[in-house]
Amino acid sequence: MLKDFFIGLSQNQLLNSAAKKYGLKMGAQNVVAGTNVAETIQSIKELNAHGISCTVDNLGEFVFEKEEALAAKKQILEVIEAIHEHGVDAHISLKPSQLGLDIDIDFCLENLKEIAAKAKSYEIFINFDMEDHARLQPSFDLLDELSKDYDNIGTVIQAYFFRAVEDIQNYKNFRLRIVKGAYKETEEYAYQDKKEIDENYIQLIEWHLLNGKFTSIATHDHHVINHVKQFVKENDIPNDKFEFQMLYGFRKDMQLQLASEGYNFCTYVPFGNDWYGYFMRRLAERPQNLNLVVKQVFNK
Ligand code: FDA
Repeated sequence: MLKDFFIGLSQNQLLNSAAKKYGLKMGAQNVVAGTNVAETIQSIKELNAHGISCTVDNLGEFVFEKEEALAAKKQILEVIEAIHEHGVDAHISLKPSQLGLDIDIDFCLENLKEIAAKAKSYEIFINFDMEDHARLQPSFDLLDELSKDYDNIGTVIQAYFFRAVEDIQNYKNFRLRIVKGAYKETEEYAYQDKKEIDENYIQLIEWHLLNGKFTSIATHDHHVINHVKQFVKENDIPNDKFEFQMLYGFRKDMQLQLASEGYNFCTYVPFGNDWYGYFMRRLAERPQNLNLVVKQVFNK
């Protein structure tokens, strides 16, 4: 119930536009690294100092105006330049819908090509975040087109989708981030039961660790993390074949602990003013994250 409520809020465009105007509020500052590139580079440096790499996300999604998509592209190009200039250990995560997927697929492809080319010139990796089901196949189509010319791209496999098992096989030669899935999907396409999602999640991770290229295991779930630690040990999978990923601001102690144990660890670092949808999805995933809001209210 609460999950549906927050997912509903995450898609409310009126609230989304209002939030952009008022800066980071409601505790979003605990989970968003900054509002601009300079603040974000500073946050990355702090994580790098602990041996943690970063994947940087210029917040924003569901863009329906070309101007807005072009502004997002410009911002991402600036981040790539800043990563290079500051020599920080970071790559890019982006959402195709922020770059024009819902406007015109060719326009989106041109934007993505420009980003991939610039990133490639500095050997910076680009990860396509995966969004809801309606955008899934179009995003794979864009990835197919881009990968004809660029090898510095990868994507996400969402374990709640029935098709994930085929997708992971088709994209096994890509660097893949494997997640449970964050959007509200119908039973036509996706498992609804948490246990089934968790089981599929483990199977996909194991399969890609054994058969695929580099695997990013993106979860805050310690059961999954402990299982993976055991699995890689039993199967002699070296540390340079995988990493753990978590979101900025979540389970900070565990992030530091995993890095200090010698595992590759990458923090997903969102930044910018378009924080509303991202933040509401985090509340939907884990209502305890409301603590972040409550703390903020009482710490004024
Ligand atoms: P889940 O929410 O299932 O929790 C399982 C258990 O872990 C909980 O019961 C609790 O015991 C423990 N736990 C979880 N969070 C905790 C916390 N904060 N503190 C203490 N204990 C906690 N989704 C998507 O659709 N497309 C995408 O591109 C991405 N990208 C992405 C990148 C990264 C780096 C991450 C970490 C996640 C994503 N996601 C995503 C989101 C993902 O699909 C999923 O919705 C969330 O990670 C929540 O699921 P978890 O696997 O983290 O644990």
